[in-house]
Amino acid sequence: MNSKRIDDRYSTNERFTTLRGIETEARKQLSPVVWNYLNCGTGDEVTLRANTADFDKLAFRTPLFAGISNPDTSTTFLGHKLSFPALIAPFGGGEQLLDAQGHCATGRAAAAVGVRQIVPVAAAHSLETIATATGVAQLFQLTFVGKVDSVLAMIERARQAGYEQIVATYSPIRQWRERMMEDRFTIRTAMEDSNYAPDKSDPEMLREQLAFEHKRWGWDEAREAIRNSPLPIIVKGVMNAEEAVQCMEAGAAGLYVSNYGGRSIDRMPSAISALPKVRAAVSKDTPIIFDSGIRRGSDIAAAIALGADVVALGRSVGYGLAANGEDGAKRVLQLLQSEFWTTLGHLGCSSVEELTASAFC
Ligand SMILES: Cc1cc2nc3c(=O)[nH]c(=O)nc-3n(C[C@H](O)[C@H](O)[C@H](O)COP(=O)(O)O)c2cc1C
Repeated sequence: MNSKRIDDRYSTNERFTTLRGIETEARKQLSPVVWNYLNCGTGDEVTLRANTADFDKLAFRTPLFAGISNPDTSTTFLGHKLSFPALIAPFGGGEQLLDAQGHCATGRAAAAVGVRQIVPVAAAHSLETIATATGVAQLFQLTFVGKVDSVLAMIERARQAGYEQIVATYSPIRQWRERMMEDRFTIRTAMEDSNYAPDKSDPEMLREQLAFEHKRWGWDEAREAIRNSPLPIIVKGVMNAEEAVQCMEAGAAGLYVSNYGGRSIDRMPSAISALPKVRAAVSKDTPIIFDSGIRRGSDIAAAIALGADVVALGRSVGYGLAANGEDGAKRVLQLLQSEFWTTLGHLGCSSVEELTASAFC
């Protein structure tokens, strides 16, 4: 572990010295309606607030005379070494409004810092374009919608482009996002020009993804897709113990604890409150990704201590992208890694593996 490199990130020569500064710049760069699109939740945004408020309730127990001055922030996840336990979350359907390079830029930022990206099916660029632009193995997020065979064909396409795992998502009906409704803001997604271009995928998939006209998948279709998938499937949106077990019984390769950053439906519990229940329900070696509410390196430490293997970063990377494109996203990752590093040291952990629930008071 190169501790000097991490120390150097305290540098006052950098354009952005804190994540707060990056968020402030993002707000300056974006129009109010795009800012609202990036930040909004659903309904009264109770879940959105709970996602961060519940992190604020967690208190660390820092050992006296047992701190570590040079902790190792690296970890291995799904066979890849990561410089710290983080992935970039999929944020599609409008990321080109933050920066025209979208997930090509965030993917390059991830590779530069030594982490991985989850590319969304709703990205402005096709999965092939992003794979070529970044040149690294990534994960691909795909909505379970339309015909099972069409979904399997898209997974095969992702496999051929070099993606190694699929993050499967599910969305039964349109979301109620009042900030966007008040702004009368509708996005013309680039999906029909990118992953759902008619020559590349079954047109019914796009129609179903956007229009919610037909019955959505049940467990039977999900099981069939997971069983026949040419790539391992990690299921996103697992928020309780029962469904964690059901997903693993269906053949999932891992679980992704998330309430989509409060953007799906309001009055769900915070994701961090659900995480320990999901971890307790499955075996120790079940890979678990966590997101929703990560804003600091200390949040990453808390989520790992409560059972996640890695966290995924949504809005925080979005702020970096809006503030300064690829460099902004990279700076967010560096600052999060640095703060995670100092948190590990204060908690007396020399490595990520040593983070456990005993980190809390
Ligand atoms: C602007 C925006 C777009 C998103 N689009 C997607 C998407 O296309 N697919 C997906 O699985 N999740 C999507 N998400 C949810 C994120 O992957 C992630 O779950 C969420 O942002 C995590 O919460 P956080 O922003 O508090 O970190 C989106 C989130 C945002 C903010």
